[in-house]
Amino acid sequence: MVARTAALFILLVSLPIITSSSSSSSSLSVCIVGSGIGGSSVAHFLREYSAPSASISIRVFERHGVVGGRMARVNVGGDSFEAGGSILHPKNYHALNYTKLIGLKIRWPNATRDSDGRDDDSDFGIWDGKGFVFKTWRVNSKLPFVDKIVSFANTALLFWRYGFSLIRMDNFVQRTVNNFLKYYESTDSRPVFETVDEMLKWAGLYKLTGHTLEEELISIGLSPLLIRELITVITRVNYGQSVSISGLAGAVSLAGSGGDLWSVQGGNWQMAAGLLNHSNVALHLREEIESISNLGNYYELNSSQGNSYECEVAVVATPLDEVDIRFDPSVSIPPRKLQHTHATFVRGLLNPAYFGFGSVEEIPELVGTIEDPGIPFSSISVLKRHNAKEATYKVFSREAMLDTLLDQIFSARKETIRINWGAYPHYKAPEVFAPFILDGQHLYYVNAFENAASTMEMSAVAAENVARLILSRHFGHVRLKLSGSEDSTDDMGLHLEL
Ligand SMILES: Cc1cc2nc3c(=O)[nH]c(=O)nc-3n(C[C@H](O)[C@H](O)[C@H](O)COP(=O)(O)OP(=O)(O)OC[C@H]3O[C@@H](n4cnc5c(N)ncnc54)[C@H](O)[C@@H]3O)c2cc1C
Ligand SMILES: *[C@@H]1O[C@H](CO)[C@@H](O)[C@H](O)[C@H]1NC(C)=O
Ligand SMILES: *[C@@H]1O[C@H](CO)[C@@H](O)[C@H](O)[C@H]1NC(C)=O
Ligand SMILES: *[C@@H]1O[C@H](CO)[C@@H](O)[C@H](O)[C@H]1NC(C)=O
Ligand SMILES: *[C@@H]1O[C@H](CO)[C@@H](O)[C@H](O)[C@H]1NC(C)=O
Repeated sequence: MVARTAALFILLVSLPIITSSSSSSSSLSVCIVGSGIGGSSVAHFLREYSAPSASISIRVFERHGVVGGRMARVNVGGDSFEAGGSILHPKNYHALNYTKLIGLKIRWPNATRDSDGRDDDSDFGIWDGKGFVFKTWRVNSKLPFVDKIVSFANTALLFWRYGFSLIRMDNFVQRTVNNFLKYYESTDSRPVFETVDEMLKWAGLYKLTGHTLEEELISIGLSPLLIRELITVITRVNYGQSVSISGLAGAVSLAGSGGDLWSVQGGNWQMAAGLLNHSNVALHLREEIESISNLGNYYELNSSQGNSYECEVAVVATPLDEVDIRFDPSVSIPPRKLQHTHATFVRGLLNPAYFGFGSVEEIPELVGTIEDPGIPFSSISVLKRHNAKEATYKVFSREAMLDTLLDQIFSARKETIRINWGAYPHYKAPEVFAPFILDGQHLYYVNAFENAASTMEMSAVAAENVARLILSRHFGHVRLKLSGSEDSTDDMGLHLEL
């Protein structure tokens, strides 16, 4: 159990010191709990950054029968769709690199519609519970110039309603994305971070975690209407929460609503599968870690299978908020709640009358919503149109969608699948961060970074730092292979500013 205190992170008292085998030994055993993009990225970067002579054994534990965690697929009526993390930003460089490394195909938004699900619908509307306060145009045309005109007209519509605040919003997002790009700078100049706070400060992102998105946007002069409508729609779609999330989570959420968003053909989970496959790990599926004990020279991890594993380094690559791992000695992290997002997949047809329309064609492909306790869902989007009478939809909501409610919103339902995700942190401002190093020794926590924002790439970025942190703290002055500098041997004594 994670003992929680309201205090800032407290590192633990008087632990037996794990004798660092640093200088002499060049071997290391690492146990990673969780096979999502975080855990699989730690494994990948441990291999990527360690000298070939270092012998590192890596075990990865996954309580489920498949890898990928929140990158998961759902089958609806024979078609497969992303059920969790679905879209990636064009500047998510780790994810892009993974697809190349593994040989996965990318689905760009300009791909044809029917082959797979996607979220970035060109045609959307903002539902306030009574009507659409905003709605873009859709023209079913195969002519590219018509598309262009429609897209131009839609931009004009947006400006008509929200004015130049849109440009300020865009600048805010660009600035944040540019700061984030610092995490891809060469390892020669980029420090290794022991804490999330340091890591965010270095990139100029920390301040954004001190205020809510709403405060941040008001301070840069965005119109209240834009915040109440379009921006609220986006935070509700991406994080199931209002504009009271932190400015940083908000900026990340806004960045995930632009153009050129992509996904992995056949499923994003393949990134985790491929990374694990390439990283020579011992993968333990259906094996849940129940306890992690510090026994002095190593950690002992006991599993649901009754097995016991010894590792010099233990990495937690899952949010600790809702899992039941006993730590001995106990660790203390700031309390955090997960936001539960109910993803309901429906094959059937929306009921136009629910939205005050006469025909289903009038309902936008993406229905976003504003904050209003009377609205029972956050968003509804079309994943695939089968024919005029049938489509597959994804509904996000904060509470489970009961049949009685679905029967009002849909006129027909052939299949309904419900997934209750402990989806991402419930964000607030100011945000308080758990440490990457949970016990001051060799117990690491990748998902401490998720309090900044939760995306597949955020987990990869955090994992890269944790892998460097492990190697630098364990091997000390031992040479690491730094990217792009495999051949040079001098002055490679690690540019680790610890
Ligand atoms: C509905 C939804 C939509 C989202 N949309 C997007 C999006 O469009 N774009 C985007 O970038 N991100 C999105 N996200 C967020 C993204 O999915 C996550 O940030 C990311 O996948 C987290 O990866 P992770 O490896 O850190 O954690 P996880 O994927 O949660 O991996 C943790 C793994 O650890 C395993 N585990 C837990 N406890 C134990 C234990 N005791 N023993 C063994 N195994 C254990 C779990 O089973 C899980 O497989 C979305 C998330 C949700 C839920
Ligand atoms: C992606 O891979 C290329 C080639 O291997 C490398 O040069 C680049 O630094 C990588 N980018 C990131 C963000 O790791
Ligand atoms: C889709 O967009 C990507 C990236 O912007 C581009 O490389 C690709 O050629 C485009 N494909 C089509 C069919 O237009
Ligand atoms: C694992 O990698 C090998 C090549 O390195 C490849 O042949 C195999 O298909 C991969 N397996 C999976 C499950 O990705
Ligand atoms: C883990 O398992 C070992 C071996 O069965 C046992 O001695 C130890 O007490 C267990 N630890 C915990 C914390 O349950």
